[in-house]
Amino acid sequence: MSEKTQRAVFATRIGAVATTVGSAVGLGNIWRFPYEAGTHGGGAFMLFYILFIFILGVPVLCAEYMLGRGTRKNVFGAYRVTQPKGSQWHLAGVTGILASILILSFYSVVAGWTMEYFFESVSGSLTNNPTQDLHERFAEFSGGTWRPLMWTWIFLLTNFVVLLRGVTKGIEKVSNFLTPMLFVLLVIFCINSLTMSGAKEGLEFLFRPDFSKIDSRVLLAAMGQAFFSLSLGLGCMLTYGSYFSPRTRVVRTAVTTAGLDTLVAILSGVIIFPAVFTFGLSPSAGPTLVFEVLPSIFNNLAFGRVWSSLFFFLLILASLTSTISMSEISIAFFVEQLNMKRSVATIVNTSIAFVLGSLCALSFGPLSDFTIFGMTVFNLFDYVSSNILLPFGGLVVSFFVGWKINSKFIENELTNYGHDSCHVKGALTICLRYVAPIGISLIFLNTIGII
Ligand code: PHE
Repeated sequence: MSEKTQRAVFATRIGAVATTVGSAVGLGNIWRFPYEAGTHGGGAFMLFYILFIFILGVPVLCAEYMLGRGTRKNVFGAYRVTQPKGSQWHLAGVTGILASILILSFYSVVAGWTMEYFFESVSGSLTNNPTQDLHERFAEFSGGTWRPLMWTWIFLLTNFVVLLRGVTKGIEKVSNFLTPMLFVLLVIFCINSLTMSGAKEGLEFLFRPDFSKIDSRVLLAAMGQAFFSLSLGLGCMLTYGSYFSPRTRVVRTAVTTAGLDTLVAILSGVIIFPAVFTFGLSPSAGPTLVFEVLPSIFNNLAFGRVWSSLFFFLLILASLTSTISMSEISIAFFVEQLNMKRSVATIVNTSIAFVLGSLCALSFGPLSDFTIFGMTVFNLFDYVSSNILLPFGGLVVSFFVGWKINSKFIENELTNYGHDSCHVKGALTICLRYVAPIGISLIFLNTIGII
């Protein structure tokens, strides 16, 4: 929806939560969380991930919601109308646009893998195979050329078609029924994993922190995952905040969103790691981990074909609600700053992602030896966006809301203009002024070896 027309408001309070959860819950929880936890020592990563969700994620989420709802604009507009005269805070929006395009590019590849698995599930070829073959098959598929490319493109086209239909209607309807259903499936899979022979080992890996594993890499990865998973630091949540009704409780919505999102990630970990140890796989397989493990899980379930078809279908929809939210960031920029028509902006956004997404899709096969800073294009986009651009965006927004914005604005947003009470204003202000900016900066400095 363009700024020129009047902004729609989510019809119900549930609608506001469901939609932000729709953006937050996606491949980040189900695919990225287990692979990051697996490569960064399990429990040590988990500990900091949860800590960062609550001391950095929730405050930054509140900051984005407040800025969005209070201004009824997206990133650029929101900074413009609230920043002190003559300052240039809105330029921070540029990193968000870059991040949204990089994320859309590699995310579409993984969503494409999900589509492949959905069709393989329906056809029955995903299950009914010995475990060994399942792993080799995924390596063969993701390392190929045409199939990964084709699925990436199909996913991007689907995203494109949905985007042309506008914001609230489609998305709100889809996310309202999608997330609870996905959640129920995850709980069922979780129970199944807990009965596996490797359950104890898997749970210990995930929940028992090995403090010797904690280093700057783990801290940076846990922070990046917290931002990625909550769709923070690029203005998505700010934009969704701009559709909140004047009665939506900002802090409560932020805590609910973060709580549900984290729960989904933990469920995913509890599904994956017992299976990893049961089937003798390596937890540190990287981005392919979940796709190597899941088929074995479905293979061992009664009616595995039905479960896996349903699961991958819901995961495609969950990915779509996330890619829609990130695409809106660059589309809004093209429309409002570069005066493009929405349809043209959507084409431009999709075309860029087509090109960059293709490079990511080939990163597991023909381009696996093409590395920049020692990383494939896929890994580079993933690393730069999640670990650098998003936390940087979060640093700016927390500092801005904590220090630069009129305190009456915050008071009004937190109490809905005196309608509701808010007991956490003090704590939130401390987090926005000190904890988030200093914490994020320290982790950055620690990573580059300065402290
Ligand atoms: N949070 C989404 C997920 O977990 C990914 C995302 C990142 C969406 C950034 C929008 C912006 O899948």
